[in-house]
Amino acid sequence: MTTEVLQINCNSLQKAKEIILNGGAVAFPTETVYGLGANAFDDDAVENIFRIKGRPNDNPLIVHVHKDYDISTLVDEVPDYAKLLQKAFLPGPLTMVYNSKNRVSSAVSCGLDTLAVRIPSHEGAQEFLKYLNLPVAAPSANISKHVSPTSAEHVYADLNGKLQLILDGGQSQGGIESTVLDCTGKVPVVLRAGLITREMIAQVVGECGEYVYKDGMRALSPGMKYKHYSPNCSTMLFKYEELDEAVKIYNNTTDEGKKVFLLCDNQTAQIAGVKNVLNLGNDENEIASNLYSKLREGEEVAELIIAVAPEKQDGVMVGVMNRLEKACR
Ligand code: TXA
Ligand code: MG
Repeated sequence: MTTEVLQINCNSLQKAKEIILNGGAVAFPTETVYGLGANAFDDDAVENIFRIKGRPNDNPLIVHVHKDYDISTLVDEVPDYAKLLQKAFLPGPLTMVYNSKNRVSSAVSCGLDTLAVRIPSHEGAQEFLKYLNLPVAAPSANISKHVSPTSAEHVYADLNGKLQLILDGGQSQGGIESTVLDCTGKVPVVLRAGLITREMIAQVVGECGEYVYKDGMRALSPGMKYKHYSPNCSTMLFKYEELDEAVKIYNNTTDEGKKVFLLCDNQTAQIAGVKNVLNLGNDENEIASNLYSKLREGEEVAELIIAVAPEKQDGVMVGVMNRLEKACR
């Protein structure tokens, strides 16, 4: 199969629609990462998504809809706090999990009785979803366990030959996947941290829980138990306070003739003063935005990436650290 990469316009949207209605998959941009989309009503098309990615079949998918889509046709019992959050943050990088009406393929939620719904703010994503006027089941458009894609080039590198069309909407600015929020209980609970932080949610609705997965527990959000986001090279992760130790290993390994890169924010890079740096930038949004592209850049040039956590650990950094820990496991 040849994989076309096309800018988003009337022609490419028409092509995308034909592919999706025929049960195929189309990659599309969002403000977080690129998605690999299929018609959520079509069992075979959804199952095909799992095959293309090599994704375990107990890790459910998010359905994506345009901003005017009536989600009450898909889900039940939307609590009042969820309505407030929809108003505050959607369209945007917040995925909300509700009780499902089981209208979409059961393959989407892998048999769970809930459904994760996302309304992306990316203009190209909205055009694509509006043109289809269907719920689109879409995981991130990478090979399972690899680093998520933030550009059409990243998608092509992972999935060339496995799908017909990649819609190119430029760099994804957000850089890490949406916050996944359980909205089936009395208060919302963050299942996966992201750009919409727990603090931001609590500010709107007063209270927000956080689910921390520990190995061996039943995973509320099944994606949490898997290795993820990993570059194809060796990795190590150090705390901010362990920078000296990280630099020592950088120097020793470099002396052994290995290609080593330090992955860290700009402030840490200045203190470390080493030659090979994958610089994540300055503030928390910049760091999130650059994380995956720097991991992908790193795997091209490095045999070992030594990541050092930023000093700041709250807000968006919770999501960044969650990805770094899984990438460097
Ligand atoms: O930003 C994003 O969310 C991107 C873009 C493409 O929209 N998508 C994405 O999808 O990251 P994926 O498949 O890589 O991650 C989906 C996450 C997984 O952790 C999965 O376990 C969780 O959402 N999830 C999906 N449905 C769920 C459900 N019904 N209950 C709990 N967690 C769910
Ligand atoms: Mg993913």
